[in-house]
Amino acid sequence: MRQPGYALVTGASRGLGRCFARTLAARKQNLVLVARSGEKLDALACELRTAHGIQVESIPFDLAQSGAGQHLADELTARGLQIDLLVNNAGFGDQGRFLELSLERQLRAINLHNATVVELTHRLLPAMIEQEQGGVITISSMAGFQPIPFASVYSATKAFLTTFSLALEAEVARFGVRVVTVCPGRLRVSPEDAENSGQRKKFPGGEQAHEDVVKEALRALDRGGGLVIPGAINKFAAFAERFIPRSKVARLIKKISKPPS
Ligand SMILES: NC(=O)c1ccc[n+]([C@@H]2O[C@H](COP(=O)([O-])OP(=O)(O)OC[C@H]3O[C@@H](n4cnc5c(N)ncnc54)[C@H](OP(=O)(O)O)[C@@H]3O)[C@@H](O)[C@H]2O)c1
Repeated sequence: MRQPGYALVTGASRGLGRCFARTLAARKQNLVLVARSGEKLDALACELRTAHGIQVESIPFDLAQSGAGQHLADELTARGLQIDLLVNNAGFGDQGRFLELSLERQLRAINLHNATVVELTHRLLPAMIEQEQGGVITISSMAGFQPIPFASVYSATKAFLTTFSLALEAEVARFGVRVVTVCPGRLRVSPEDAENSGQRKKFPGGEQAHEDVVKEALRALDRGGGLVIPGAINKFAAFAERFIPRSKVARLIKKISKPPS
């Protein structure tokens, strides 16, 4: 008989990824947790094993390194872990003038958000297709719907993710693999993470709770896949943005945003 598989959650040490891990654990889903902070992963793994009686592996890993997705897939194979659900969540966003931000960090963001996601998905999909079941949830962002001055690389990597994930959904649906593309707006920092988050400006449209985003994403997964834009204001913004000429949208956003000082 086939062993129960695992859900792999990247960026599970805090924020939205940890919320995915906790919610999936409550569904009795075995988990592989990945991020750089090994101690946090171990503590979460312990919490989830005790609370839900599931199997949880933690793998500390820097997913922004070149070839990271391939290396992580090799590690999963070496440990004999079969992944039925991949949650591509790990990410970070730097803001500032393109030329003033570190080139090295921007290239790391491209690796983490794009190259690693493509590598992991490429390596893990074949087994899902063979089993005719499985899922891939990719966390993109509202930032991917338009070019954003002072977040140029971040918005470009998220545009790539949205396009990639939606195209993949159409390709693999016939094999029984469900693909969900999630485009959250600004997320509320959980009290557990508040000490490292600093002062945050009020955001038009408000902030969304991790739990609400995860609930919508998993509902879409259960229904067979799709695009998730959590929250009514974000849905409206994503719709309305289509009516602004592509050539004007970046200049318009620049007018209403300032580079961080
Ligand atoms: N926050 C928002 O307002 C917002 C809005 C829209 C979309 N999103 C997207 O939602 C996702 C989660 O965001 P979040 O707010 O939960 O972020 P977060 O609280 O900063 O957590 C990011 C997670 O990614 C991990 N991570 C970062 N760099 C990594 C690396 N090089 N290798 C492995 N893991 C790494 C972090 O763990 P370690 O530091 O331990 O490695 C952490 O677990 C991201 O893709 C983000 O772009 C966020």
